[in-house]
Amino acid sequence: MKSYKIALYPGDGIGIDVTQEAVKALQAAQDKFGFNLETTEFDWGHRYWKKIGEVAPDNFLETLKGFDAIFLGAIGDPANLADHVTLVPLIQMRQQFDQYACIRPATLLPGVECPLVGVSAGDIDMVVVRENSEGEYTNAGGTLRSGTPDEIATQNAIHTRKGVERIIRYAFELARKRRKKMTMTTKSNAMKYSMVMWDRILDEVRGDYPDVESNKFHVDALSMYFVRCPQNFDVVVASNLFGDILSDLGGAITGSLGLAPSANINPERKFPSLFEPVHGSAPDIAGKGIANPIAAIRSAAMMLDFLGEADAARLIESAVHANLKSGTVRTPDLGGKSTTIEVGNDIARHIKENA
Ligand code: NAI
Ligand code: MG
Repeated sequence: MKSYKIALYPGDGIGIDVTQEAVKALQAAQDKFGFNLETTEFDWGHRYWKKIGEVAPDNFLETLKGFDAIFLGAIGDPANLADHVTLVPLIQMRQQFDQYACIRPATLLPGVECPLVGVSAGDIDMVVVRENSEGEYTNAGGTLRSGTPDEIATQNAIHTRKGVERIIRYAFELARKRRKKMTMTTKSNAMKYSMVMWDRILDEVRGDYPDVESNKFHVDALSMYFVRCPQNFDVVVASNLFGDILSDLGGAITGSLGLAPSANINPERKFPSLFEPVHGSAPDIAGKGIANPIAAIRSAAMMLDFLGEADAARLIESAVHANLKSGTVRTPDLGGKSTTIEVGNDIARHIKENA
């Protein structure tokens, strides 16, 4: 029997609730397809900080290296600990494990109401490919005279030719397997070093993909087009910060952030890849048991697909579609009254019944 070692990092807030439901779906799928997921759970995050005084042990990356994949719920407990402390392990995993391709599908599914007028299921089917290893989230900068009226802060973005070229090529390759349209996000009218280099690299590599139609928009205009004509987009590649912002917008225009999955991939498979919903720990609804677990469940499906269990991944995805289509068991973000656990149970039932 095939076996995979999975590290579970539920984190904080709703991350804990949605991870539990993702695990339920994974268990239902493994029973059906006869593979084995050997899960190990870590209580890193604010819970760990309360006990030990740090959010994760110093050697946490070393520990994670032994796993086939990492599943993360969400981290952040801003009322108790500053976000730039709690979120450090997340950024470290992405950068140290060279998970440079962050894949964030945004699809409007049947049974889900679109907040945009006149847009219905099937109209939005895009993937945001976010550069995930450098750019604006590099730990480079500093402060001077902190907390005084003369305070200075610098936050440097680092874009490398290698990093930009590989993510643009990744997006082209993905577009090739889809509808063959690739849009690059830029802002070269104002960011005249980094984004001008992105523009130049796009021009250099697009000739290798003559079968893919490619274009680019400044990020401000692109945000508007996501709202006005989301039908126009297939694969959208963006720097770390722009991709982060656009993928929340992608979640919103496809019905709820609670539906949006993501995969942080190391395509060369030298390190474990990381799977997590696009959303955060949602302190405003944490502890209420009403978080939508679907983003986490779909991220778990992306994990199985990456591990080579494509049939199991498809089954989980179709169980989610069945739940959404019937519309009877849904959380408040989709206008329902059900709990996180009820939605998780309904999807697990669909998986067991073969959707
Ligand atoms: P958020 O994504 O947690 O929440 C934004 C809004 O979406 C909130 O109104 C929330 O209730 C709603 N929402 C999010 N997920 C939902 C779900 N599954 N079901 C229903 N509604 C959902 O973003 P926010 O509020 O900016 O951040 C909260 C905390 O999460 C912060 O500590 C932040 O740093 C952290 N964060 C962590 C991320 C991660 O672990 N990957 C990603 C984004 C934020
Ligand atoms: Mg984000």
